[in-house]
Amino acid sequence: MALNGKRVLLIIGGGIAAYKSLELIREITKRGGSVRAILTKAGAEFVTSLSVASLSGEKVFTDLFSLTDEAEMGHIELSRSADLVVVAPATADILAKMAQGLANDLASTALLATDKRVLVAPAMNVRMWQHAATQRNLATLKADGILFVGPDDGAMACGEFGPGRMAEPVAIADAIEAAFAPVSRVLEGRHVLVTSGPTHEPIDPVRYIANRSSGKQGHAIAAAAARAGAKVTLVSGPVSIPHPVGVTVISVETADEMLRAVQHALPADIAVFCAAVADWRVAAQSGDKLKKSEAGPPALSLTPNPDILSTIGHLSANRPSLIVGFAAETSNVIDYARGKLDKKACDLIVANDVGGDSGIMGGDMNTVHIVSKDAVDSWPKLSKTEVAERLIALLATKFAKASR
Ligand code: CTP
Repeated sequence: MALNGKRVLLIIGGGIAAYKSLELIREITKRGGSVRAILTKAGAEFVTSLSVASLSGEKVFTDLFSLTDEAEMGHIELSRSADLVVVAPATADILAKMAQGLANDLASTALLATDKRVLVAPAMNVRMWQHAATQRNLATLKADGILFVGPDDGAMACGEFGPGRMAEPVAIADAIEAAFAPVSRVLEGRHVLVTSGPTHEPIDPVRYIANRSSGKQGHAIAAAAARAGAKVTLVSGPVSIPHPVGVTVISVETADEMLRAVQHALPADIAVFCAAVADWRVAAQSGDKLKKSEAGPPALSLTPNPDILSTIGHLSANRPSLIVGFAAETSNVIDYARGKLDKKACDLIVANDVGGDSGIMGGDMNTVHIVSKDAVDSWPKLSKTEVAERLIALLATKFAKASR
């Protein structure tokens, strides 16, 4: 089991997402790890000490000034006896305390006293997440080397919609595994190019054609390639997720701009085309806002966009050694993927079924099939981070074989 023998100190902050931390304890123990928990005063308003203790099989720590707790295990030892400290949910208040180095309760004291890595799963109202103060704290914590998972986009308990939901327990457990995984720098010295997100094709100065891509999968691939030691160029359409750490990001809007940025970023050893590029753009973009008129709605005449993957796949000079395309399909997934492999001259297609209620577009999980000329490998349902890790490991192996 991936977390065999690993000890996690879980700090449960005060937020409605605290109920998911109970599921997280199960997920960690299912993977072989053990959990000791600190429940903050606010956290105890949402889950009980008894349920945390029952699931973790350990005493739950709540109070900095408890003589019995301190006699059993001092707060310093508590924070050091773990292999990893996880804060889930991490409220805006906890993030602010961490960024400032405040220590006025057991959770913040343990966080300041620890000599172990810290992984944080933020959860808060969307406005609180987007507030300049929280974003400033986030940047400070990232620079301090704190690891983050989430938050996700979605409907919130407070009725608002946007980023701020705590990552799902499975995704947090994946991030815990990733934090323990020995960093193998299999792509050291290589240049990996990744496209991600949607493109926006303007109709007039205020309107555009777009799609539902969030950029989560492409950004996760760029992050995984950087962790594997590669120099990474990420060409991204408009997205609302943060830039991955250690990656050069080129932000573009349209398919034309994306193609130019990709061509400019060459040469690359490996290229992964994950962006959901709009297939068409408006033939004649209006310089002025289109107005309603008696003549009825305007007819939009469309013209094809360049196919970026196919253009790079068919290059005779400067073609990356390994080119990966994505295929988002709603039916005949494998057949269509095989067709694209051929037509777009790429080496692998990562195919997924985005139909119906799959929840893949914009979600955190993905179920993919790796389609090559002579094989199809179907992976189980995984978090997008894990798909990225596995894909990068596969590409590193293929690249090493090809350059032997
Ligand atoms: N792609 C691209 N440039 C485009 C369209 C697609 O680079 N103009 C890339 C995507 O990044 C992805 C792959 O091509 O890697 C497949 O895209 P998809 O939209 O699934 O396929 P299409 O070529 O658009 O085919 P269809 O619409 O018929 O499914």
